[in-house]
Amino acid sequence: MVVDLEIFEKNLNTMAAHCRKAGLQLRGHVKVHKSPEIARRQAALGSIGVTCATVAECELMAKAGIRGVLLTRQPATKNNIGRTVALAGREPTFGTVVDDPLVVEWLQEAAAAEGVTLRTVVDVYAGLTRHGIEPGGPAIELAKKVDSSKNLKLIGLMGYSGGASHTKGWNERKKKSQDDLAGLLESVAMARAAGLPVSIVTGGSTGTYNIDSESKSLTELQAGSFVFMDTLYRQIGGKQDPTVYSDFGLALTVMTTVISKRHTGQVTIDAGNKALLRSTDEVKGCPEVRVENQGAEYGILTLKDGDKDFKLGERVELYPSNLDMSTNVYDRYYVARGEQIVDVWPIMGRSGAAQR
Ligand SMILES: Cc1ncc(COP(=O)(O)O)c(C=O)c1O
Repeated sequence: MVVDLEIFEKNLNTMAAHCRKAGLQLRGHVKVHKSPEIARRQAALGSIGVTCATVAECELMAKAGIRGVLLTRQPATKNNIGRTVALAGREPTFGTVVDDPLVVEWLQEAAAAEGVTLRTVVDVYAGLTRHGIEPGGPAIELAKKVDSSKNLKLIGLMGYSGGASHTKGWNERKKKSQDDLAGLLESVAMARAAGLPVSIVTGGSTGTYNIDSESKSLTELQAGSFVFMDTLYRQIGGKQDPTVYSDFGLALTVMTTVISKRHTGQVTIDAGNKALLRSTDEVKGCPEVRVENQGAEYGILTLKDGDKDFKLGERVELYPSNLDMSTNVYDRYYVARGEQIVDVWPIMGRSGAAQR
């Protein structure tokens, strides 16, 4: 994997400047990159922490010295609850989300046994059925339960509108985001009226970063993909340009090589399923070339008459269409300024049951 440092740095600066101007905090998601190096660079530009999908990512980031880590997937196994509480003991700025009273009880019991206080955020349903308690009454009851749990400290509410993030068209996306977050906002107002401490309202994505700031619905953003961008995000259209979402640049490629060309109209590259190659990936500099998969170790670039003819041994860079899955199969990012590799950043916390 190759990072174009210039585009990457511009992406980070664009988001940091936007958040500063909008009065929003950034607690960017690391699930897309799994790199403490990137988290550190974001912290240097003013972000208040990171959001993580797994306890393992949280442990990794905290160990790398990142403060303000928030686990955005409720811990529900004995293993994950134990590790969540242990991490809170080592790093008091760490916190987790919950969406179920039973998990609040499990966490309280585990935290009490260790004499630890755990920062806790109530995760409110915002359009994705995979997580989040029903807004309004149930969310407030859960927030009260957290607030009255001796070893849990309620810090706020979360609502992640994952369905809005990739909605095509800026106006359509805005409507979807506002509809999905309406219940969260109602819950925030109810919680505050009930005297509950709501110091953060967290959510948002790369697709909605400039919608969330206009709606003033969140206090902080969890956007992650903008650091590298991917081809699926490019297609959703931006506020200015309805065809291409160009607020952030494509900064990450997978470097492949042409290894066979025995048939007209196609060349074979050394990247297939194991490289997380997908038909939605794109060839850098040749968006007209179709990228296809032909097994574990093989990919095919399909060429039409007049398309560029690739040479045997030629390097071909592909833009991934799904960052989370693609970065998860590589060990390191080769960081390039222009044509020069200037750094290597490890991609951490990927293998083994402990990572789940
Ligand atoms: C809970 C949560 N927050 C934030 C994000 C970041 O969204 P994006 O990478 O689209 O900016 C994700 C991504 O899946 C997520 O699951």
